[in-house]
Amino acid sequence: MSPANLARVFITRRLPQVDELEQLRQIAVVETWSERQPPTYSVLLEKVKSIDGLLCLLTDSIDRQLLEIAPSLKVISQMAVGYDNIDIPAATARGVPVGNTPGVLTNATADLTWALLMAAARRIVEAQSFVRGGQWLTWEPTLLLGADLSGSTLGIVGLGRIGQAVARRARGFDMKILYYSRHRLEPSLEESLGVEYAELKTLLSESDFISLHTALSAETYHLIGDRQFQLMKSSAILINTARGSIVDSQALYQALSTNQIAGAALDVTDPEPIPMDSPLLKLDNVIITPHIGSASYQTRAKMAQMAINNLIAGLEGKRLPHCVNDELYR
Ligand code: NAP
Ligand code: GLV
Repeated sequence: MSPANLARVFITRRLPQVDELEQLRQIAVVETWSERQPPTYSVLLEKVKSIDGLLCLLTDSIDRQLLEIAPSLKVISQMAVGYDNIDIPAATARGVPVGNTPGVLTNATADLTWALLMAAARRIVEAQSFVRGGQWLTWEPTLLLGADLSGSTLGIVGLGRIGQAVARRARGFDMKILYYSRHRLEPSLEESLGVEYAELKTLLSESDFISLHTALSAETYHLIGDRQFQLMKSSAILINTARGSIVDSQALYQALSTNQIAGAALDVTDPEPIPMDSPLLKLDNVIITPHIGSASYQTRAKMAQMAINNLIAGLEGKRLPHCVNDELYR
């Protein structure tokens, strides 16, 4: 194909090196944003005016205004499962399919959730600082005591792919598992996962560990705020690897700083990155990682492959293998 006939694509960050990138270059002129910081919104506005395909990340805001000035845009492919940064109704109204990367990151994200849960339960980060700070003098019967997992109750909010993968891990630790989700699972699936449905209030008041796994939407924004923290046990530990603004950060700070709950472990914050003057960073009972749920070599390569395959399908006018707004094909 002569360059004049090639599609034009903008990729908003460097991707892992995967063979699919070469396949993409056979059919498109590919421009990749090579800086560490994401392109600004004004850069995105400029780029979308002349492209056929956009491969974006969760840090890129793809809103109605941007879509309105993208006359040739045929496909948006997001390298993430969550797509709350994209105005899906606006994309659908313009006939633009949006792809995402479900499934391939489920286990990696559940693993990170589990690592955070165990680290918070057993105060691993505090213990590490204790040792490096030269405070380890002897074995002490009451030094750095934490919580048992075995025999405790885990409350999973949002029992989708990742929530279920977390439930499978919890079974191996002999935990009782409650869940609250938009839809109740079939009884046979509840039984095989070993989970019990509970209303959110019940789950919050009965769980020792609460792990959030819903998508971010208007319904789940600040799902966990002052009133919900008041329902929790004073020994409760909150884990959030979903999206930062599902939790009201001020209410979280209040709950942690007054020992209304025992601790929290967050892979996601509101905003991201967390500002260095955030009061949360001054608390010992919170662990924060920089949104690394899917950050394993294998998983990120699979996400890149999936995102490029979605992009290629969209450029070729084919159905995206993983499409968020597949009502476009009905
Ligand atoms: P999923 O399979 O769609 O699971 C989400 C679950 O939340 C579904 O069961 C959904 O119910 C439920 N839900 C949605 N809205 C709800 C509401 N208002 N109240 C109660 N439950 C609700 O998605 P997933 O693949 O597990 O991913 C979940 C989220 O994790 C993503 O959207 C993303 O934000 C986040 N994530 C973070 C990382 C990270 O790096 N930290 C990595 C991957 C994903 P329905 O079945 O009714 O839709
Ligand atoms: C990461 O947060 C994702 O949604 O894939």
